[in-house]
Amino acid sequence: MKRTPMIAGNWKMFKTGPEAVQTALRLVAGCRDVTDVDIMIAPAFVALSLVAQIVKNTPVRLGAQNLYFEKQGAFTGEISADMLKAAGAAYVIIGHSERRQHFFETDEAVCKKIRAAVTANLTPILCVGETEAQRDQEKTFLTLDKQVSDGLQGFGPDEIKDLILAYEPVWAIGTGKSASVAQVKEVHQYLRSLLEKRFSPDLAQTIRILYGGSVKPENIADLMRIEDVDGALVGGASLDADTFTKIIKFDTIL
Ligand code: PGA
Repeated sequence: MKRTPMIAGNWKMFKTGPEAVQTALRLVAGCRDVTDVDIMIAPAFVALSLVAQIVKNTPVRLGAQNLYFEKQGAFTGEISADMLKAAGAAYVIIGHSERRQHFFETDEAVCKKIRAAVTANLTPILCVGETEAQRDQEKTFLTLDKQVSDGLQGFGPDEIKDLILAYEPVWAIGTGKSASVAQVKEVHQYLRSLLEKRFSPDLAQTIRILYGGSVKPENIADLMRIEDVDGALVGGASLDADTFTKIIKFDTIL
């Protein structure tokens, strides 16, 4: 089964609106000729509308880093799926480990957020991953099983056929310490078999599974050679347009 690779950049809490515009302009210039890779950047909420103008009619798509699951209401400081959509986002990252860790996001909240995204026609990128302690205690698969099963509780395969899964081992995020090819291979295979068991063989074959955690131009080619890796979710190395462009053009180094 051929799945279109996706390289997604998570800009986290970096870049003001004008800075995001500058980086997006440079990225768009570098990626004009890319046709075989889906490209996405997720700037901060306040930069979404500005960056939307820059990436319009280019191969670069826009994503948000989070949402709140209620449709609207008295939820001071929160942002709904419809607001993201109206700002130009096509994707939304949900359940990033930094949200789980620092903002106490539970699998139950993640599930509601995915429901809100799907309802608003935003493509969710569901992040899962074990901590170092969980890996040391050999609880990696158990952790991932719970995050996938509880995060996608109540969904039928048709509702999530466009969903993207991102495996991001917490210990590899922002540490410079990427997971090894063998570790990534093992987990991605496990996730695909889990999707097959919980949903359907068709869904398991269609869903793209990205790897995230210290992805850089130096390791992207090795990661993309792994059969069940369909792309990458990139943090630090996506902040610089030239470095990110090198990652997007991984097939020139394959
Ligand atoms: P990193 O972050 O590439 O800086 O490790 C990845 C992520 O948090 O998505």
